[in-house]
Amino acid sequence: MRIDIISVQPGLLESPFSHSILKRAQAKGLLDVQVHNLRDFSDLKHKQVDDYQFGGGAGMVMMLEPVVKAIEHLQSERSYDEIIYLTPDGETLNQPIANQLSLKGNLLLLCGHYKGIDERIREHFVTREISIGDYVLSGGELAAAVLVDAIGRLIPGVLNDETSALFDSFQDNLLAPPVYTRPEEFRGWKVPDVLLSGDHRKIGEWRHDKAVERTRQRRTRSFEMKIQNPITKHQILHAWMIVFC
Ligand code: ADE
Repeated sequence: MRIDIISVQPGLLESPFSHSILKRAQAKGLLDVQVHNLRDFSDLKHKQVDDYQFGGGAGMVMMLEPVVKAIEHLQSERSYDEIIYLTPDGETLNQPIANQLSLKGNLLLLCGHYKGIDERIREHFVTREISIGDYVLSGGELAAAVLVDAIGRLIPGVLNDETSALFDSFQDNLLAPPVYTRPEEFRGWKVPDVLLSGDHRKIGEWRHDKAVERTRQRRTRSFEMKIQNPITKHQILHAWMIVFC
């Protein structure tokens, strides 16, 4: 998968893709992330990319010309499945959206700054608008990094254990169950006996019950969605058996 990102602050995106899973994904040739500086597409003397908004009011708006030039330059090299604008008024990112986008070949992400981009770019180029939550960041770069991370780890072959993304919180509308590692006891705090039992069916059931309990407590809405889908408990147990038995 190829992901191009257009940004006025490319420095903000230097680190997130140079570590851990996304670094490995790129090294394996499964993911290619390229960041483009919007200022390189400005024809103005001081590489200006923003201007005052028509109608007055505080805050600058990202200008049409450099953004269009950047998009059209990239489109001349490849076609994009989606041109995504990161903005607090987009649809809120969730696991189904990440799953869907991880199946695409080429994505172009556009990071907003200041008051946002000229509306005509949204009307004529952007195919999807995504927010990472109902709060306002100082720009779309960190949101783009979150989106690339959520997508990148789902690309087949990126995670070592091919199955592990299947067990993430949210893949089945359930939050993840508690996890433990050594030592078995610390300051009298013990790991639940069932996890030491070696009985994978029981462990699977315990994990499922804990996931349900946690979801009921912390995500009432997802829990309601979940209980409308009674087949999932069987599916989860089946998946655990495949992995551990
Ligand atoms: N830009 C600023 N805030 C944002 C958010 N919450 N999500 C996506 N892009 C943004």
